[in-house]
Amino acid sequence: MDEGLMTGFGNSFATEAVAGALPIGRNSPQHAPFGLYAEQLSGTAFTAPRSENRRSWLYRMRPAADHPPFGPYRGATLLRTAPFDEVAPSPNRLRWDPLPLPPTPTDFVDGLVTVCGNGDVAVGGGCAVHLYAATASMTGRAFFDADGELLIVPQQGALRLVTELGVIEVAPLQIALVPRGIRFRVELLDEAARGYVCENYGAPFRLPELGPIGSNGLANARDFETPRAGFEDVDTPCELIQKFQGALWSTTLDHSPFDVVAWHGNLAPWRYDLRRFNTINTVSFDHPDPSIFTVLTSPSETPGTANADFVIFPPRWMVAEGTFRPPWFHRNVMSEYMGLIEGRYDAKDGGFAPGGGSLHNQMNGHGPDRASYDKAIAADPAPVRIADTMAFMVESRNVLRPTRWAAETPLRQPDYDGVWSGFEKARLPR
Ligand SMILES: [Fe+2]
Repeated sequence: MDEGLMTGFGNSFATEAVAGALPIGRNSPQHAPFGLYAEQLSGTAFTAPRSENRRSWLYRMRPAADHPPFGPYRGATLLRTAPFDEVAPSPNRLRWDPLPLPPTPTDFVDGLVTVCGNGDVAVGGGCAVHLYAATASMTGRAFFDADGELLIVPQQGALRLVTELGVIEVAPLQIALVPRGIRFRVELLDEAARGYVCENYGAPFRLPELGPIGSNGLANARDFETPRAGFEDVDTPCELIQKFQGALWSTTLDHSPFDVVAWHGNLAPWRYDLRRFNTINTVSFDHPDPSIFTVLTSPSETPGTANADFVIFPPRWMVAEGTFRPPWFHRNVMSEYMGLIEGRYDAKDGGFAPGGGSLHNQMNGHGPDRASYDKAIAADPAPVRIADTMAFMVESRNVLRPTRWAAETPLRQPDYDGVWSGFEKARLPR
């Protein structure tokens, strides 16, 4: 664990980059230390129940309010926001090849491409799935998303996230979350970076309830890492881009927005290493629903019915006796976007590549392809380890509606339905 990171999920952290910068006892003293400006950043309504309430107090060199008006920003031309009504949502199962890296220097913001989503940003519900492909660091500019929190899932290349609340590095097999409204900059630690982003317009992601699993398991709170305060004392121009109700806006500050010298509270960015997920599954027969792999959930107002779940399919032992072990055939009321970080996914024999994606929407049948099915029914029933793989799923109660880009891109595989063709008819006794 990095010495500089604080651990826990939703904890009330307190951190200062300069000794004495964090006021004690008062959130907003008449005179904050060193003439810093006290500023509250809320992630939930003031009156949200205490267990759900998220807010942090920031002590910064200039107020965040100190900026000229925003004007339209013309980059990130493939970034879209709910409601997703560019094309009629197709009931077809869709799959895409990985997004190629851009041929010209492109940073994280301009490299965002929206695949699908649901809900309506204007009423604060739903989510979007974006891809990013970047070949340049953000220099002299910063970004924030007023529309939702951003769950970043690198697939290739490590990132350095410089945020108002501190710096975290995140590499493939780790994920990071930047809360709604927090300004950040993405630097590339490798030549290129590619991955996925889940933008959540709804209730902030939290750890799922564990029920009969007990007090430990799945993603443990202690493995979430939040940066300590770190700041830039830089008085050079910085373009600040925000996403607001789906549109991008830009202004220019005469200083770095990363000037928070101290902060305390429970609204903060974090990273989590997916290899620390405590995977739980059957030790007898059948396998539980894939909800057993839930890392994070954004609940809706309907109990047990997620606005968005983030679920992983990590390396694990398969031991179920007399059981068809891969994901079974299914038709679900929930809709599923899947991505692959590394390796192969046990229900697909090919075609689902790292960096690629698939979309299986409400009530449309899917499951193992023909080759995976044949292998599974012929398999030795001995325990077997699925290794060197990490797939994930964004699952939502509402249909994930593709963007025009997703529907029309040549990356979309025209023959995906064929993976379920050729199954022999069952042989009934005569
Ligand atoms: Fe599925």
